Amino acid sequence: MKIAVYGASGYQGKLVLAELAHRDIDMLLVGRNAARLREAATTVGTAVGTVDAGQRVADTDDHDRLAAAFRGCDAVINCAGPFTSSGPAVVRAAIAAGCHYVDTAGEQLYTKAVFDTFAGEAERAGVTVVPATNDGCVPGDLIAHLLAERVQPIEEITVSHFIVGGGGFSRGSLRSAVETIDAIKAGGLSYDGDDWRTGTPARHATVTLPDAPQPTDVVKCPLSEVVTIPRHIEVRHVESLVDATVGAQLGTPLTPQIIDSLPEGPTEEDRRTQRFTYLIDVVSHDDQSARGIIRGHDTYGITAVIAVEAARRLVTDGAKPGVLAPAQAYDPTSFLTFLAPHGISWTITVSNTPTPQQ
Ligand SMILES: NC(=O)c1ccc[n+]([C@@H]2O[C@H](COP(=O)([O-])OP(=O)(O)OC[C@H]3O[C@@H](n4cnc5c(N)ncnc54)[C@H](OP(=O)(O)O)[C@@H]3O)[C@@H](O)[C@H]2O)c1
Repeated sequence: MKIAVYGASGYQGKLVLAELAHRDIDMLLVGRNAARLREAATTVGTAVGTVDAGQRVADTDDHDRLAAAFRGCDAVINCAGPFTSSGPAVVRAAIAAGCHYVDTAGEQLYTKAVFDTFAGEAERAGVTVVPATNDGCVPGDLIAHLLAERVQPIEEITVSHFIVGGGGFSRGSLRSAVETIDAIKAGGLSYDGDDWRTGTPARHATVTLPDAPQPTDVVKCPLSEVVTIPRHIEVRHVESLVDATVGAQLGTPLTPQIIDSLPEGPTEEDRRTQRFTYLIDVVSHDDQSARGIIRGHDTYGITAVIAVEAARRLVTDGAKPGVLAPAQAYDPTSFLTFLAPHGISWTITVSNTPTPQQ
């Protein structure tokens, strides 16, 4: 199996290279700048032993060259953000090259555009595309599917993200926030009835974390789970929320000059100290409730683990061709169980009866 990494020179790209090396999977480094690709191979090689991989230079505005760069690989992991501007060209080239495709995008409207634009093309080419294979969307989408097997019919699903510590966002994440600032300020899409809509006010202003004495203020935030969950669950309303403090940070974009002057991303020590809790709250039409809780640390490290495993499963196990949500491409319990040794724990509680899974 050979996996191409586009945007291999970035902060997240290098974590993906290290994970591929750790798992002994053949890789090809692809990006727009030869010197930065070489530097990435050296940096990761120094950390993990050796990165014995080919490198190819291809820009997103040269479709033929990009598709040629991917040809011969089984899958592409795209880590080149902001995705809103450059992502579609990479999806198109991966499909043309006959490669399965996953990415680390956290940009909600981009994720929706991948479903809207590439479903037919991917199906005809016999390849599977799974956008947003990151720390939030994969576990959140999978656990939502498990909750929906237990609570029916569903009125609403609320996804909320809480992250503490960890040295903040990478430069790339901040650039993605700048590029999608209008969506962030507007709160992004909600799913309502039968379609995705902007401008719907949040149903919730607070969320109570497990064991917390009081609720935490939250605001609407454009997470990709809102796009993926209604693809496999019949539900009337889906919205996504973050801690109001994080929402305020994301909604106050830094200038490109300030972002360029920051470190590339959190240090290893920062990543070790970070903790996240992602909640998936489900309410049925008759007011039965269920909650999925995902806990872990190191959002960037776990994104690398998830993106590599997501691509590997598409190659090894196969999935339906087309653009799929995580729960359409992977067995939820099996994928979540795979994540446990990487520090992810998850629980499901239906009407206050907790069922610890890991
Ligand atoms: N949960 C989440 O939402 C989540 C989690 C993890 C990561 N992410 C996302 O992953 C992305 C990567 O983050 P990062 O920290 O690795 O960013 P980064 O360090 O800035 O790296 C970005 C990479 O993309 C490449 N790139 C950027 N624009 C490009 C373009 N127009 N054409 C071709 N290549 C381009 C860069 O190439 P050069 O080296 O040549 O500049 C670099 O390799 C971000 O969008 C981030 O939000 C999201």
